[in-house]
Amino acid sequence: MGQIIIDGGARLQGTVTVGGAKNAALKEMVAAILVPGRHQLNNVPDIADVALMGELLSHIGCRLQREGTTLWIVSPERLNPEAPLELVRKMRASIVVLGPLLARCGEARVALPGGDDLGARPIDMHLEGLQQMGASFRLSHGVLEGEAVNGLAGAEIELSFPSVGATENLMLAGVAAKGETIIVNAAREPEIVDLARHLNAMGASVTGEGTPMLHVIGTPNLSPAEHTVIPDRLEAGTYAIAGAITGGDVTVTGCSPTLLRMELSKLEDAGCQVRKGEDWLRIEGPERPQPIDFVTLPYPGFHTDLHPQMVALLTVASGTSIVTENLYDSRFRYVGELARMGADISIESQHAVIRGKRELSGCPVLAPDIRAGAALVLAGLRAEGTTVVGDVYHIDRGYNGLVDKLRAMGAAIARSD
Ligand code: EPU
Repeated sequence: MGQIIIDGGARLQGTVTVGGAKNAALKEMVAAILVPGRHQLNNVPDIADVALMGELLSHIGCRLQREGTTLWIVSPERLNPEAPLELVRKMRASIVVLGPLLARCGEARVALPGGDDLGARPIDMHLEGLQQMGASFRLSHGVLEGEAVNGLAGAEIELSFPSVGATENLMLAGVAAKGETIIVNAAREPEIVDLARHLNAMGASVTGEGTPMLHVIGTPNLSPAEHTVIPDRLEAGTYAIAGAITGGDVTVTGCSPTLLRMELSKLEDAGCQVRKGEDWLRIEGPERPQPIDFVTLPYPGFHTDLHPQMVALLTVASGTSIVTENLYDSRFRYVGELARMGADISIESQHAVIRGKRELSGCPVLAPDIRAGAALVLAGLRAEGTTVVGDVYHIDRGYNGLVDKLRAMGAAIARSD
């Protein structure tokens, strides 16, 4: 399954460049379903989830070609409107093909994703929204069979929570539906703004992106377009915290610091010095961080996908921090692994109380999900002795070249497969 081996203690120093955003690229690849022809995406990260989405699109009938960070997707006239269980299980983001398949083909068969490492993760809002647009669903042997015999029609849909995936599914369906779709309490994440820009470049009319009220006017005249994926704010944030936890001096380039306002301000509160320009940020970590409290929230709140990395930092703070997780019911599964390294963390429902220790002590640990895996690597950079992080395939889903990038900044880190 692969391991990352770290000899802790090195102070990171240097520059690291981040790639395109996983969570934008995956949905922008799916947009190719909407219209036949050759679509082009630039700045696509070379990570396992992108490869999995490629497999899913191939299954649906698309042909993909990649050169460096450019990906071409040729979408055929006739699609095979189904997403099989083996792919949906490996990557829940597969569910986002549901809306565009219904819009384009009038039918879709998508295996029900079920829960995953982060909890139950229901898709009720995706389904209710698509039903309001005229789709009907039945569950047969674990497969969700959707139909829209008369095509999809625009509707006013209120989300009970600003779900990223539901907003994207409905937006992708809405651009090819008849009439206007209004999504109220839409998610405002930068990746959604980027998807809207991509769809607009394809001839769609999406307005209000980045606000809680999205207006989408459907059109039969979409065409393939070229689009450059925004930088990955989670990869950038992870390297910023790597600089912080090692008391290092790390410059992250090719990123958008404005998309990390809350997270960078919390790093400043923890005693880091942060400088930033339009597409770079530089972080200098203190010898020992100060304790801070934070709460994860939808954008522009503190991102849940940087929560475990930040907790890794706080395990060595000079006092007690409280972290509240509001997005996922099982996000704290990694805490037991950090405890093996000597961290003092107690969990009370969605709150973690982290009593900072002067030192962590390296040992074998297992990555339970993408971000927790990254957090354990960061803890290993700080820990005394050797940390071996197993189940590295989780990390590969979201990070390209993590080991090489950290080594280039002075980490004593290696990978064995
Ligand atoms: N939810 C429902 N019903 C729904 C949809 C969501 O109850 O119909 C709940 C979920 O169970 C969860 C919360 O709402 O508790 C937020 O889920 P959301 O739909 O916003 O998340 P997502 O679309 O499934 C994306 C990212 C996640 C990221 C979240 C939150 C992708 C592929 N995934 O997931 O990224 O944590 O938004 O920002 O875009 C990661 O990259 O490591 C990752 C997990």
